[in-house]
Amino acid sequence: MSHPVLTALGLSATESGTYLGNGEWSKTCDAGVLEPVNPTTGEVLGHVHASSQADYELIIARAQAAFKIWRTTPAPRRGEAIRLCADALRTHKDALGSLVALEMGKSKPEGDGEVQEMIDIGEFAVGLSRQLYGLTMHSERPGHRMYEQWHPLGIVGVISAFNFPVAVWAWNSFIAAICGDITVWKPSPKTPLSAIASMKICNEALRAGGFPDIFFLFNDAGSELAQQFVDDRRIPLISFTGSTKVGRMVGENVARRMGRSLLELGGNNAIIVDETADLKLAIPAIVFGAVGTAGQRCTTTRRLIVHASMYDEVLAKLITAYKQVEGKIGDPTDPANLMGPLNSRDGVNAYLDAIAKAKAAGGKVETGGTAIDRPGNFVLPAIVTGLTNEAEIVQHETFAPILYVMQYKDLDEAIEMQNAVPQGLSSSIFTTNLKHAEAFLSAAGSDCGIANVNIGTSGAEIGGAFGGEKETGGGRESGSDAWRAYMRRQTNTINYSDALPLAQGIKFDL
Ligand code: UN1
Repeated sequence: MSHPVLTALGLSATESGTYLGNGEWSKTCDAGVLEPVNPTTGEVLGHVHASSQADYELIIARAQAAFKIWRTTPAPRRGEAIRLCADALRTHKDALGSLVALEMGKSKPEGDGEVQEMIDIGEFAVGLSRQLYGLTMHSERPGHRMYEQWHPLGIVGVISAFNFPVAVWAWNSFIAAICGDITVWKPSPKTPLSAIASMKICNEALRAGGFPDIFFLFNDAGSELAQQFVDDRRIPLISFTGSTKVGRMVGENVARRMGRSLLELGGNNAIIVDETADLKLAIPAIVFGAVGTAGQRCTTTRRLIVHASMYDEVLAKLITAYKQVEGKIGDPTDPANLMGPLNSRDGVNAYLDAIAKAKAAGGKVETGGTAIDRPGNFVLPAIVTGLTNEAEIVQHETFAPILYVMQYKDLDEAIEMQNAVPQGLSSSIFTTNLKHAEAFLSAAGSDCGIANVNIGTSGAEIGGAFGGEKETGGGRESGSDAWRAYMRRQTNTINYSDALPLAQGIKFDL
């Protein structure tokens, strides 16, 4: 019997994890089975047959053939294909949002929000399909014209993480599609059902619209196929979202074959609350940033840097708010709950381990800090004080709801603390002082890829480029001109004169 949320999307309790194109799902059943677990109950949600070596080879061959057609399909026509995907996702938003909540463990509104991100990036991509602009240049030679154009790259490999099991694929694959690329997706082994459902929704919409296959899917029972994927010279771009540890290996391996990688790795995001901050805004932003998605966003607020004069008040208000959240922890598919479980037992162990390390380093757990005694992977969100920014555990990204609260005396010190971690994804300041806001956003301010004023660190809109510096990996996805990563730039010089002048005034008379 499959779960009603699966049935609503036409999924059964046993699914193929391999989309081969041509409307075919692989029949392979001897390459291992993935068993995604409902993090709320610990029960197995379904069985997903992993892909074989032969499946992988067939996918890559078909993706190569598909690219030959797709690369010369006019970009606005490619946009039309993505419009159909976005429309289909709108139709299935409620059901897919519920599946994301069920399988990943995020709250139902956040699951729906994730599907909304897919719809938003789809619509962004439709508009972008008419705006893949290159520059024109003035040639130094008479009778010459210079310009640049952006061509499709080829097959884009997407390796996504469990925490955003569907939106990150859409960020990549929808933009890649309008750029003329074909996407091959390897989702997280913890959330294959959300991936299969997304593929079914989009591929059915594409087929109904008469479009060729532009999205393929495989699931790996171990890490052999994934490793091969990263090393595969037929894939010019690998877009990887996950830990810094694995991302470093991906980046090194792709670089060795001179491929491109787009890395979205760990964050260790801080909010600064200055002495002028409006706490009506700051407190809910901090709580959502630290507790939302049970602390499993790469943009989760992990450090709070509070002006000494505000410290006691902010801490007291946060503890009160955390107690309110504690009453709303439970089944994430129930829209009344604000926080669901961690996605896995490993997540719970990492949380408990970090709390133990924080205590051993002299930290004080102000609230939370324990697992909840019930089935599933539930923990209480924790606030830890008494540690310095340099403490090893504060420097480390633990993918769980733990907030380290620290204090500062002047803004320079706060900005220095905010920057003094290996990661560089997202950052915020709460202030009503214009000088503080601008100093935080200046070249001498936050060193992160995302820097906000009076909003939190998480929940970025798709319209901006998303990604971060340092150990976050440097990649940019989603909006702005992030599309350029999915295309190759070509500079063209055309001579329409009767002479052949050389650049730099060089004479070469025969
Ligand atoms: C991630 O955690 O990998 O900004 C992505 C946010 C979301 C995306 C997070 N829009 O929190």
